[in-house]
Amino acid sequence: MKGLMPISLLVNGERVEAHVLPRLNLADFLRENLQLTGTHVGCEHGVCGACTVRVNGDIVRSCLMLAVQAQGASVQTIEGLSDSGEVADLQAAFRDRNALQCGYCTPGMLMAAQDLLKQRTDLDRARIREHLSGNYCRCTGYQAIIDAVETTARARMGRKP
Ligand code: FES
Ligand code: FES
Repeated sequence: MKGLMPISLLVNGERVEAHVLPRLNLADFLRENLQLTGTHVGCEHGVCGACTVRVNGDIVRSCLMLAVQAQGASVQTIEGLSDSGEVADLQAAFRDRNALQCGYCTPGMLMAAQDLLKQRTDLDRARIREHLSGNYCRCTGYQAIIDAVETTARARMGRKP
């Protein structure tokens, strides 16, 4: 179709080739073209964090990135992290601590929390709060989310040799 641009990228480790409109953002590409609906869309202007994904190892707001900007990149979504088991313990801690209610913020929270937990596990609550401060939750009041991340950090630290 006229005006479409070809892109080729890795999504959760699999090669994806597509033709997209230059204005299509990455969040909509993941959700609508690839049916990866775990990436949520809230504010659509970079504020709420619901659309957080990993691009080349770093978390980004996929509502602020165009799909064509992901040309050649490796993108990981919550489906990828969940299927690989990378966040299994964190997901279990969210369940155990009642850190989700409606669940709308949860994929973005998990992506952001795992980003921090990958960097370090000697975390205090202030550091966790700071890292998650760009992810909005309208339901939980945040305490349970901080609890879940703190629990996971402690458990992972305990597992280290
Ligand atoms: S939908 Fe992207 S930050 Fe809110
Ligand atoms: S659980 Fe509803 S927005 Fe966070």
